Amino acid sequence: TAACCNALLTGAALYGIYRYFYGGICRCTTRLDGLVIIITGPTSGIGKALSFLLVERGASLVLACRDLEKGNQLKNKLKKYNSNNAKIFVKQLNLQSFSSIIKFAEDINSTFNEIYALVNNAGVFFHEQKLTEDGFDITFQVNYLGPFVLTHHLLKTLKKSDHARVVNVASEAHRTVNVYDLKAITKCQTDFRTHYKAYGVSKLALVLFSRQLAKKLKNTNILVNAVNPGNVETAIYRYFPPLCNPFLYALQWPVRTIVVKRPHQGAQSLLHSLLTSNRSTGQYISDCKLALPSSIALNDSLAEEYYDLTMQLLSDIFTTESDC
Ligand SMILES: NC(=O)c1ccc[n+]([C@@H]2O[C@H](COP(=O)([O-])OP(=O)(O)OC[C@H]3O[C@@H](n4cnc5c(N)ncnc54)[C@H](OP(=O)(O)O)[C@@H]3O)[C@@H](O)[C@H]2O)c1
Repeated sequence: TAACCNALLTGAALYGIYRYFYGGICRCTTRLDGLVIIITGPTSGIGKALSFLLVERGASLVLACRDLEKGNQLKNKLKKYNSNNAKIFVKQLNLQSFSSIIKFAEDINSTFNEIYALVNNAGVFFHEQKLTEDGFDITFQVNYLGPFVLTHHLLKTLKKSDHARVVNVASEAHRTVNVYDLKAITKCQTDFRTHYKAYGVSKLALVLFSRQLAKKLKNTNILVNAVNPGNVETAIYRYFPPLCNPFLYALQWPVRTIVVKRPHQGAQSLLHSLLTSNRSTGQYISDCKLALPSSIALNDSLAEEYYDLTMQLLSDIFTTESDC
């Protein structure tokens, strides 16, 4: 009997730990029939899982992929879940290139009368520190400048929808950087510290951007939020030494199965921020509820200053008054 009790207690404890790390679950029952949602980076991980969840809800999807072949394969798989016959479009978008982003946005603006949501999900982690064709650190451009440019170029079509949302996929890594590092990258793109810091900077910049854009759009139909998916088992770790080494990964696997989310779990907070009737904007959402980001990310004057610094960095692109 003692052995039986021990086994039961261990089982219950393990289940409790599993539920704890499972994270929040989106309980919204809202449908999205007829609404157009753009997802960047839908061909892998969290974006892919979200695509399935959205198609089940009837949304029309624009799969904004850097690899069209992967996008078309995904479209074929999604068709099986698409009971509503909602349209699925596969379009090319490479966030390492501003000309690709602008071409994509022009295509969207001329194809759709209105867009319900833009999910800025695509991202890289621990990427080799190289410059893009536009002269910016790859991580900084893909994770922050790219979504910044894309969002501004889609605002006019987002504004045509009765209700619209921008979901910026952030990360708890935003807590790991300070204001010095955040500003340093706006001055120099080549002399840029560690891979991990580059990621943290890009995500803190994205959280501040969400806050400032929400403020600028407060009298419009558009809600803007930053969403933390949690720690999720995806291909994003492809460049991260402790996880891309098969031997080291195998050692960690038993623990990771319990404490790291599956992609459909990571997609829950993104789904929630697209469906919830709560009209909060400029917030940080984690585990399907409002959460507090770092104190730096709550600094409104820094958010405004960083937005202006970004506009200056991108002055070649934003030659005229921006749309918001
Ligand atoms: N996984 C986590 O633990 C975690 C934690 C916190 C935040 N996040 C964030 O969640 C988001 C999704 O990440 P994930 O974990 O699902 O990673 P993932 O599986 O690697 O997916 C990333 C997606 O971004 C796309 N992408 C990368 N570079 C791109 C570029 N230059 N242009 C266009 N698309 C590009 C990838 O395209 P390909 O399919 O062609 O590679 C892929 O579809 C990211 O913003 C990430 O920072 C993830």
